[in-house]
Parts: sequence; structure tokens; C-alpha cells
Amino acid sequence: MIEQKENVFVISTENTSYMIGILDTGHPVHLGYGPLVDSVPSMETLYGRVRPNIGTAAYWDEEHRDIFPANLPLEYSTPWRGDNSEPAVIVEYGNGCTALDLLYRGHRIYRGKDTSFPASVPDSEGAETLELELSDSVLPISLYLSYTVFPSSDVIIRSARIVNGTDEAALLRSIASMQLDIPSDGWELVTFDGAWARERYEHRRPLLPGVTAVGSRLGCSGNEHNPLIYLENGRGEVYGFNLIYSGCHRECIDVSPFGRTRVLTGINPYGFSWRLMPGESFSAPEAVMTYSRSGREKAVLSFHSFINDHIVSGYWKGRERPVLLNSWEASYFSFDEERVLSLAEAGKELGIELFVLDDGWFGKRTDDTKGLGDWYPNRDRFPCGMGKFAEKIRSMGLMFGIWMEPEMVNFDSDLYRSHPDWVIALPGRKPLPCRHQYILDLSRQEVREYIIDAVSSVIDESGAAYIKWDMNRTFTDLFSYGSMGTAGELMHRYILGLYEVMGRLKERYPKVLFEGCASGGNRYDLGMLLFMPQIWASDNTDLHDRVMIEEGTLMGYPQSTMGAHVSASPGHQSLRVSRIDSRFSVAAFGAFGYELDVSALSDDDKESVRDEIAFYKKYRKVLQFGEFRVEHVSPNQRFWYSTLGKTTVAAEIQTLNEVHTGRLDRLRLPCAADGKMYRVTARKERIPESSGAAGGMTEDFSIEVSGMVLREYGAALGPQFTGNGFAEGTRILGDFGSRLYVIEEV
Ligand code: GLA
Repeated sequence: MIEQKENVFVISTENTSYMIGILDTGHPVHLGYGPLVDSVPSMETLYGRVRPNIGTAAYWDEEHRDIFPANLPLEYSTPWRGDNSEPAVIVEYGNGCTALDLLYRGHRIYRGKDTSFPASVPDSEGAETLELELSDSVLPISLYLSYTVFPSSDVIIRSARIVNGTDEAALLRSIASMQLDIPSDGWELVTFDGAWARERYEHRRPLLPGVTAVGSRLGCSGNEHNPLIYLENGRGEVYGFNLIYSGCHRECIDVSPFGRTRVLTGINPYGFSWRLMPGESFSAPEAVMTYSRSGREKAVLSFHSFINDHIVSGYWKGRERPVLLNSWEASYFSFDEERVLSLAEAGKELGIELFVLDDGWFGKRTDDTKGLGDWYPNRDRFPCGMGKFAEKIRSMGLMFGIWMEPEMVNFDSDLYRSHPDWVIALPGRKPLPCRHQYILDLSRQEVREYIIDAVSSVIDESGAAYIKWDMNRTFTDLFSYGSMGTAGELMHRYILGLYEVMGRLKERYPKVLFEGCASGGNRYDLGMLLFMPQIWASDNTDLHDRVMIEEGTLMGYPQSTMGAHVSASPGHQSLRVSRIDSRFSVAAFGAFGYELDVSALSDDDKESVRDEIAFYKKYRKVLQFGEFRVEHVSPNQRFWYSTLGKTTVAAEIQTLNEVHTGRLDRLRLPCAADGKMYRVTARKERIPESSGAAGGMTEDFSIEVSGMVLREYGAALGPQFTGNGFAEGTRILGDFGSRLYVIEEV
């Protein structure tokens, strides 16, 4: 709901309110973002009548000697007009001037929202938007700020659009999607950072005076810093932010000397500039934000339901994802048709629903040095072509899926030989190689058409029900031989081009399940999720590392979006040995599959896989669409929970098996309700003989307990240590062990 009383606007979600006031100078100021208010507060109540004097700072004018822009909680800020913190927008005009005053001119409150691409999508409940129109005090440069709410979501969507109404060209050097100025209150910044195979590890740091920024300069949202961030004050208050964008982004927090903490998110100004001709406008991508006063758990749930309801759209919205078997870690580049068919058959036997043929099926692609761009089947490997091969997979009762990397080209490829000018490269310089490949310039229409044709013909020929859309390098050498814009525009034009391609393919093939991938999780963001309902979280499938990767990912993105596979032991990335059931328990909290040679598993492991798949199918809806919660008991032990309706699947996850601690592990359920009874049952697993036990199945564990007791005290689990060796009742978890429990409300 959006209300206005005099010069105060209140934008409310189900449980939160965001308030804006307009000063008599026209400055739009932030009045608070917190719990839902019961009425529209007055300006005087929240802003105060007299503001503190801040010494050497410039004040607005002689009539407003208490208005110090350096201390105003602005809704949107500009340089060189008294506010010395990081500005939201920098437009260069005249002779290199960048000073602007963005003052209130009018507003509009309307049903619906701008759905121009790329944007979050209203459902049948609709949306409501406040648009504030600001413009400079002297020049006809306008800025439109919009705030959208959906009736049953605790997320607010922000965006900004600038219009050059002057009769000269201006240069946009930076434009934030949102600004939030809040009182400095001991905030800590939580970010999700990493690298290839180590994506989205959670980090926390105190915010001290000055600028703290994370972001991406990689050309994609990147594995170094995800656009998801949180501000937490240790007293239960949490702000969460994310961006609906897949390119270079920046999250910048500036703590001023005068008790103001400014949060800016948007396109990274690094290397960015955009020419605004007279009358032209530029729209920043949408940012999303949420507030919780009861810790991060609520903020995470708000983001999850927002993504399931308003980011993922079309056929796969809310739809259960198939259990897949991917050929990559099973055979890498060494395979022929016979080998993959037998892999698919072994998978089918165990309960797999979708077989995915990964890299190496096309052109001369027998290793990663060649073939990218030549999207026709390798006839040595698939003599009858992809259509016939896919038919064989389907005749086994499996869906067929296939890998592509449409944005890229190997230098050793027919495509590069015929269109060397289609790649992003600087005049007179050889572009830096990365995995022996260059990037196709998606800012060009002919390149976009080529990609749409190439992907369409692969889908048409093979009847693929699933495409793994990979992107395996970062950007360098920004320059376009054929785009409309300058090098400063190229990165953003590339992303817009990518969205156009994906949008058109989604429209043409609405039922095809696209899974985004970028050397694992190098482009895991809300922009990609608008078009691809799931994303491969990481090339690292080691269960211990995956706990950090998946938990970091799940702090902002729901389980249904996160590709998670069981792979071989020892893990190919970590060389760590682990039990297959433990690997399953961690991978089960995502869009699940296997990525190993299932035909080479021991009979015991095959039986385990069969049970795992059956279990996953039974609880798939809970695992993919349930409310995700996490509880850290100690650095060595944590629990994950996914709850849908009356059912929860919980995972106990242990790092090292500690001996003789005397501790009794307990399984709790943080969302268990008073006055209800719950049955807790452990999933039965095979005990490997290597554990020191005689083999067989794990102990029976089933107990009924009241909601209050389950939440506050927990149910005692058996001991992992009983003296010397294995004894009756010893619970086998082991190092890097994890196990699932089903908790049903009875
Ligand atoms: C990337 C992906 C992998 C696999 C390979 C194939 O690394 O992240 O999952 O598809 O490419 O080359």
C-alpha cells in the first residue's frame, strides 16, 4: 500500500514501511524504513523541527541555514552541491560540470509497475508504484525514482530513470538503482564472495567511517562478489539488498562523519559511461530491498518468496524440477554415443528423469581449445546426428537436455574464421584469451540473431527439454566493432543484448528448462533468473565446500533456483573422500541431480542412489520450495531446514567427528509451533563397512514430540561415540557427514 499525507509518503509492504518526506526546499529525504506503521507520521515527528549544525559544511541558502546537504538523509544524491558522500548519479554536462540539485517536482501513485525489460513481474495480485519526479533547479535534467510493492511480499523494488531535457549531449558516468540513507547504528556488512569453485562464501565486516564497496568488474555479476548484501546491527535489525542485473554491479556503503550510512547499489561506474543525447533517457536496473527486525531468517524468507513469485516466471514458476544426470564429471570430453547411452541407461535404472549431455558433442570439440561456436553435432561421436541420439534417450523414458555456450567462440572454430569481427576486441590488440575463447559481441543485432538461430536449431533438431547455458570467461578488451555505442556503453549493451536473446528464446520455447551456468556460479543473479529458473551454483561439488557455497547462495536465492549435484568421491575439486549419502544430504537442498559415472558405482552405492532419488522425489516440493532456515550449533555442526506446510526436511551437517565431547546432539525445529505434535524420523542410510561398523542400515530413529519442546529443547540424537569402536546405537555420521530427517506435523 502507498499512502501520502501532505509532504510525507509511506510505502508499505505486508510487515514493513518505507517513508519519504519532501522538505520545503524540494529535497526528498528518507524518514525511515522499518516495521509497518499504523498511520502516516508527520514530517516533524520523524525529521525533527531543528537539525543539528555541522560546522564547516555548506548550508542550502540563507533562508535554510539548518539544511546541510552533507547531513541530509537523501533519497538520491548528486555531487558538488554540499553532499560530500558517494553520489547516486553523476552526469557530465557543459564544460565537464557534474553538479546538480535533484528537487521534487511531482509524483504519481499508480496500480501496476514498469515491466520494461528486465524487471520483476507482478502476479495476479498486481502491484502498486510511487514514482517521484525530481529535476535540477536550473537545467531540464529530470530523474524519476520509483518504488513498487506487491501485496503479499516484504520486498520493495526500486529503480531510477534519468532524462536529458537539455539541448546538448550529456554523459552519464554513474547511476545507482537505489540509495538508502539510514542512521549509522553499528551496522555490519555481510557479503557473499569468492572465486571459481569457491562462490558466495559469507563474510562479515564492521562498517567504519568512509566508503566500503564490493562489486564486479568481470562483465558478469561474478563469483568475486554477489550483488546480494545485508546490513545487520546485531540487535535483530536487518536490511537486505539485491539487484536485478547480470553485469558489472557495485554495492557501495558510505558512512559519513555525521551519523549517516548510505547504501547505493547499481551498475558499477567502473568503465561505464552513457551518452545521453537531447531528449534521451537511461533506466537503471531494478534493485530490491527488504527489512526485518527479527534477524536475517525473515529477510531470507522474504527474498525467497519474492524470487519464486516475481522473478521466476512462466512455465517453470513454482514447478518441480526434474532429477538430472549430467555427463560432465562422468566423462568430461572422452565419450562417444555408446558411452553416453550406457550412462543414461544406468541413470534411468536408478530413477533419473533428465539426462544432460554436457560439453563435447559439437563441431571439433574434443577438448576446450576448439569448436565453440560450431553448434552442429560431431559426426564422429554422433553419426546419426542429435535428433536420432536424443530420440534414443527419450525412448528410455528420460527427458533430454544439452549443454551450450552460445555467447562464446574458440579462436579455433569455423564461426571465428568466418566472423573474426564478431568478438569483443580492441583495435590493434589481440584480445586476452581465457579458456582459449573470445566473447561474441552481443551488443550487435546480427550476433544476437546468430545466437537465437543457433540455439533454436539445436532445440528444434534434438527436441531438448533442457538447455544448460554456459558462459566460461570474464570480459577484457572492451570495444565493439559494430555496436551503436561507445566502449563505455558496451558492457551494459551486452547485458541488454543477452536479455533480448534470452527473452526471445524463452518466448519461443516456453517449456524448455534453461539452467544458467558460468564456470559454475560466476553469474548467479536475479537478472539471469528472470529467464532461467535455475543456475548451476558451482563447479565445486565437494560436500564440505558445498555447505558454504549452498548456504551462501541460499541466503539470497531459493532452493528451486540452485543447481546442486552429487559427484564422485574422492571429489574432483577437493580430492576429499566422503559418503554418497552425506553428499546427497547437502545436494538435496537444491535443484538436484548427479554428475558422476553412476554405472561405475559399487552395488551398495547404487542402492543408496536409488533410495536417495526416491526420497528426493517424495519430498521434492518441500526441498525445492520450502522455507529455508539454518541453525549454526557450533563451527563443527549446523542444521538446515526446508519447511512446506506440515513437512520439514532437516539436514544435520557435521564437519569433523569430535571424539568424547560428552555432548548430546539435538535436532530442533526453529519454526515448530506451540500446541502441535511432530514426528521426527531419520532417513535410513547404508552404513559403509569402512566406518568400523558391520555394515547394514543406520539405526531406526522415530520420535513424537510437542512443537514447544522440539523448538526449545530439541530431540536427542544418538551418540556418535560410545567408547572403543562401534557399539549398538552408535550414530554413524563421520567427518564431513550429513544426514536427513523428516519432521511431520501430526
Ligand atoms: C564449465 C561448467 C561445467 C561444464 C564445463 C564444460 O566449466 O561450469 O559445469 O559444463 O564448463 O566445459
